[in-house]
Amino acid sequence: MRIDIVTIFPEFFSVLDVSLLGRARESGLIELAVHDLRDFTRDRHRTVDDTPYGGGAGMVMKPEPWGEALDSILDTESIVIFPSPAGELFTQATAQELASEKHLVFGCGRYEGIDERVVEYAATRARVRLMSMGDYVLNGGEVAAMAMIEAVGRLIPGVIGNPQSLVEESHSDGLLEYPSYTKPAQWRGLEVPPVLLSGHHGAIAAWRREQQLERTRRIRPDLLD
Ligand code: ADE
Repeated sequence: MRIDIVTIFPEFFSVLDVSLLGRARESGLIELAVHDLRDFTRDRHRTVDDTPYGGGAGMVMKPEPWGEALDSILDTESIVIFPSPAGELFTQATAQELASEKHLVFGCGRYEGIDERVVEYAATRARVRLMSMGDYVLNGGEVAAMAMIEAVGRLIPGVIGNPQSLVEESHSDGLLEYPSYTKPAQWRGLEVPPVLLSGHHGAIAAWRREQQLERTRRIRPDLLD
């Protein structure tokens, strides 16, 4: 998969060099490039924002640098994702959909947002999705893009060593994950649930399923609707 990121804070994305995604990049499973939006400006001050038409607080990102950036990045197979609190909710199902794409482009807005015509223009060139991480406001799209890239990247075949761990984790079956334990069996007076030490695979599977349902009912009843 190819991933392009457009941002005024390229240094945010240096963490994508480490850990699982860093290895996926080294091995060529993910090809990732970060572009500084200011490199697509043409004025001496490398201006990326201006005051909003109609008035109001804050600044809006100008369309011209975005147009130039998108023109240099997009091709016929691209899907452009604009992180936005006004977007559709990003879920595990979204991550699964995006994991089979060939080319993701993340357009990270700052300030009060990007001139709306950028989204309109992008939609004439590629598929476009506005995606929200949740019902809260971040300072910009960078942290949201990073979370989406990690959620999508780990689903690409070969990125995670043991694919079974993808099957058993929270949200992959619509439920929260069951609790996990490792050695020692006794720690600070706390015990591992005895069924896990029983060696009885059927009983263990049933207990785990029951724990998933109980947790989901208690913490995220909305998932059961
Ligand atoms: N940008 C600002 N807030 C955001 C959110 N909640 N999700 C995605 N992008 C954002």
